[in-house]
Amino acid sequence: MAGLRIDRCLCFGRTFAEMRAAADATGAQSVLELQEHVLFGQKCGLCHPYVRRMLRTGQTVFDHVVTAEDEPLWKGEVEREEGEG
Ligand code: FES
Repeated sequence: MAGLRIDRCLCFGRTFAEMRAAADATGAQSVLELQEHVLFGQKCGLCHPYVRRMLRTGQTVFDHVVTAEDEPLWKGEVEREEGEG
């Protein structure tokens, strides 16, 4: 069985590497801030914990599942209300 390889927001097809480049270029430090520059994460939201870890560590390819329990919202961080705006 092929190993697990998670490297993007599946709903929008944007890679974490692409998001990291955008974060580096813009200084975005949270999912919400990054969403101002890259279209991702506005459907199922399963990519959010991966993006938080990418922002924290720079990792862009994951061979294991990362959940919201593994990467909870940071202190003071807010998430967009889905369906709003
Ligand atoms: S995987 Fe990113 S919103 Fe679904």
